[in-house]
Amino acid sequence: MQYNRYNISIFMEKKQENTKMEKLISLCKRRGFIFQSAEVYGGLQGFWDYGPLGVELKNNIKKVWWKKFVQQRDDVVGLDSSIITNSTVWKNSGHVQGFSDKLVECKKCHQRFKEADFSNEPGFLKCPYCQSDDLTKPKDFNTMFKTFVGPTEDTASTAYLRPETAQNIFVQFDNIRQSMRKKVPFGIAQIGKAFRNEITPGNFIFRSREFEQMELEFFVNPKDDKKYFKEFVDASYNFFIDLGIKKENIRKYEQKGKELAHYSKETIDLEYNFPFDKGFAELMGIANRTDYDLKAHGITYKDDVDKEEFVPYVIEPSAGVDRAMLAFLLDAYEEIDGGRSTTTESNKEKEMVLKLHKDLAPYKVAILPLSKKEEVSGSAKDLYKELQKYWMVAYDDASSIGRRYRRQDEIGTPYCVTYDFDSNDDKKVTVRDRDTMEQERISVDELVNYLKHKLDS
Ligand code: GAP
Repeated sequence: MQYNRYNISIFMEKKQENTKMEKLISLCKRRGFIFQSAEVYGGLQGFWDYGPLGVELKNNIKKVWWKKFVQQRDDVVGLDSSIITNSTVWKNSGHVQGFSDKLVECKKCHQRFKEADFSNEPGFLKCPYCQSDDLTKPKDFNTMFKTFVGPTEDTASTAYLRPETAQNIFVQFDNIRQSMRKKVPFGIAQIGKAFRNEITPGNFIFRSREFEQMELEFFVNPKDDKKYFKEFVDASYNFFIDLGIKKENIRKYEQKGKELAHYSKETIDLEYNFPFDKGFAELMGIANRTDYDLKAHGITYKDDVDKEEFVPYVIEPSAGVDRAMLAFLLDAYEEIDGGRSTTTESNKEKEMVLKLHKDLAPYKVAILPLSKKEEVSGSAKDLYKELQKYWMVAYDDASSIGRRYRRQDEIGTPYCVTYDFDSNDDKKVTVRDRDTMEQERISVDELVNYLKHKLDS
């Protein structure tokens, strides 16, 4: 079954030449990266399931981010907070009153749409669905998902699914600072799900109603805010560059005037050149949230040593895991006309290669025995088991070697190891590099060290 374009996004149709995105969406389904949630029941707009390879890629993105922003710093610690919390958190943070989009309703067909999506377009004031100009005035629509805690459904039991992970960090500021004996400047990081009842989810996993965030709230003395803001803009930019995003596809955009959130003194978005709408769109944001949040929750800070008392400013790099995943997939996707394999059957076919950074690739290595005969496959399986101690490894013994290489290229596996008839005699295997397609004959005893050098450096 193919994805229904309407379910992916009505807004994808804004850009006709969107073939790269469609090919990627199809690859993601065909190779087990991303499926429409509950597809057998027609799906649910804005919700996605990550398949076996998707979950590996997503975990790898989170792992690299956590290592860089938490484990390799001595001034950042982690948190995994609850998704549903005391609703006063969301009242005091301003979300209950202000986390909303302006919605316009068509009085004729009763469709609702987001004013911001159409207000810059010529011919606005017409319903995009039925073209009627009989519309209501824009009304605020709160995009937090509501639920009830306990058996009664009343105001007292109303709770919200968090629309960002940040607020739970602010309200645990004192517990974490005291238990970990931290002094400002220090940060608290969290990776976790966030939920927004988006009016116009779409463009695949770019805008969903359930998504994941990687957020860091870094608490500083207000006089140092500029220094740390720059540090986290640079660190966030380098995170994407170091993981292979091409420089021409990522840029910094400084928000101005009305674009700034009410809590922000300064925000720089990192934008990626997505192949839809206007191209460059927000990948993540780095905001100077000032003392807005800690003040909202009545939290203050006194330095134990110099006794200085102040409300810390917060520098916040906030990235979407799903949006980062989409950017990594798009950037890595390459199509080679006529194929690049030397095997005859693939000569005329298009080949797809996902040139994912080795730290992100779902499988690091694939073992490809040249025969299913026990004398070859038995030893190949032993090798497979040995490599599984270190990495996520694939084993594929079906169809020709050319096809098997292409299957691994398509999912971004950096190294393929072929075990052939000579391997039992010379105790060597052939290692093929995904990007250069160079092949090297490596001794089986040396293989783990060889791959460690290639993959873990
Ligand atoms: N705590 C600040 C905050 O939540 P945001 O700009 O609303 O700021 C941060 O969100 C990041 O979360 C965005 O840059 C984007 O990567 C991701 N994000 C936000 N809404 C999203 C959605 N509906 N679907 C997927 N990712 C989303």
